Amino acid sequence: MNFSFVSDEISTSGAIVVTVFEGGEFSTSAELFDKTTGGALRRGVESNRFKGKKGDLLELLAPSGVSNTRVVLAGLGKRSELKVTDLENLGGKIYKDLSAKGEKEITVVLDDLKINDLSTSVLASHVSYGALLRTYKFDTYKTAKKVDSGSQLDKLTMVCADSSSAKASFDDLEKIAEGVFFTRQLVSEPPNRLYPETFAAQAKELEALGVKVTVLDEKEIIDLGMNALYAVGMGSDKESKVVIMEWNGSSKGAEEKPLAFVGKGVTFDTGGISLKPAAGMEDMKFDMGGAGTVFGLMKALAGRKAKVNVVGACGLAENMPAGNAQRPGDIVTSYSGKTIEVLNTDAEGRLVLADVLSYTQEKYNPRLVIDLATLTGAMIVALGNDIAGIFSNDDKISEQLTAAGYIVEERVWRLPLADCYDKLLDCDAADMKNIGGRAAGSITAAQFLQRFIENGTPWVHIDIAGVAWATKEKPTAAKGATGFGVRLLDRFVADNYEA
Ligand code: BES
Ligand code: MN
Ligand code: ZN
Repeated sequence: MNFSFVSDEISTSGAIVVTVFEGGEFSTSAELFDKTTGGALRRGVESNRFKGKKGDLLELLAPSGVSNTRVVLAGLGKRSELKVTDLENLGGKIYKDLSAKGEKEITVVLDDLKINDLSTSVLASHVSYGALLRTYKFDTYKTAKKVDSGSQLDKLTMVCADSSSAKASFDDLEKIAEGVFFTRQLVSEPPNRLYPETFAAQAKELEALGVKVTVLDEKEIIDLGMNALYAVGMGSDKESKVVIMEWNGSSKGAEEKPLAFVGKGVTFDTGGISLKPAAGMEDMKFDMGGAGTVFGLMKALAGRKAKVNVVGACGLAENMPAGNAQRPGDIVTSYSGKTIEVLNTDAEGRLVLADVLSYTQEKYNPRLVIDLATLTGAMIVALGNDIAGIFSNDDKISEQLTAAGYIVEERVWRLPLADCYDKLLDCDAADMKNIGGRAAGSITAAQFLQRFIENGTPWVHIDIAGVAWATKEKPTAAKGATGFGVRLLDRFVADNYEA
């Protein structure tokens, strides 16, 4: 796809998209096209009861007066309620609709728009961004893709007043999209192809962007005493790995403490000896979604040269049942020295994260830690598939994340942490057990992680179990891996930690 930005010259071929607000307020260019087509747009609005609601499209096929294939009137809803994501969703929607109809070229004319201090031209870049996000398709293993892929759409042009500022804004958005696609690709890969070693190898791709990558192999994991993480991968023929990615973009140099992002990377979760039921087990290929998001985030931040120091740390393991797998009842000594009685081998994500959280705090002394994990099925019961749960010891960071989530439409909702939940992990035989019982399953999982946060280090846990994978499409994402978290955390960093 070619994305371009121009200030005039509206194409005379392909589809033209112009906008209207709810209530019939045509943009200047919508008026213009109404005139050139002899009033066809207004007549279409009348005869189709088209109200200009957000997301609605009215399509005129081959109208007379112009040589374009179609003129599309896009509803933007109420002017006072317009959000940046509405424009992204518009981009995604027209990409999806018009490519399915065999369109080769789209020209969107945007005028008379403003949201806060964002100009029409910057908003135009978000229309392109939305379309770009919608283009991702996981077809690596479709051998017939060249024959049946269908779409001939290869050009999206935005017409707006200041095309160079639109282009500049799009350059950064394109880097973020590349991060999102990296995550979607990793999360979509099947578990016979993506396992700790091959997953870790993917981090090497980031070195070209200036990211320092360190991979700890299983021997180093054992030598360091990361026994909780190691125990999870014991039953697998695949070696566990820890991947550390460092991006030092701060203008203050290496002295500035980094932000740390920690990801759960269980490349397949059978449950281990506490084996999961067969139905739906294939979903557990996306149990590396937290780590996948950290990889994509590093790609986005390094790609757009974010002025911040960041460390991404991921624990990668495969949770399998086998003669050498860990057993329910095993007691392991974590990297922190705290002992854990493993009462359910299917509560493995927290074991992986515990050691990576401890190691990251000790080694990098971060100013804050945010972990991401497909940690609990209970998260889906609580919040469903659109909003992720967050758990934190820090009100301000929770608010920053919540605000960023509204802006990019990757929403999060905070759930409580409290001593009454923490004590459910108390254990007779060891310092703690790895399950807290049926009640408040997502919270007790978070409480478990908090036991590995030292000296009140500001910390947020994001449980993405419900949002990492979608069974329904959205305007800016096909079904499948969503890449949830990349845009959220990129925004969180950009708005609060870049100087
Ligand atoms: N990876 C799962 C959680 C999960 C479930 C993620 C569904 C995405 C979709 C996790 O390792 C797990 O198995 N959690 C258990 C914890 C329980 C044993 C305390 C769960 O949620 O049932
Ligand atoms: Mn599990
Ligand atoms: Zn898991």
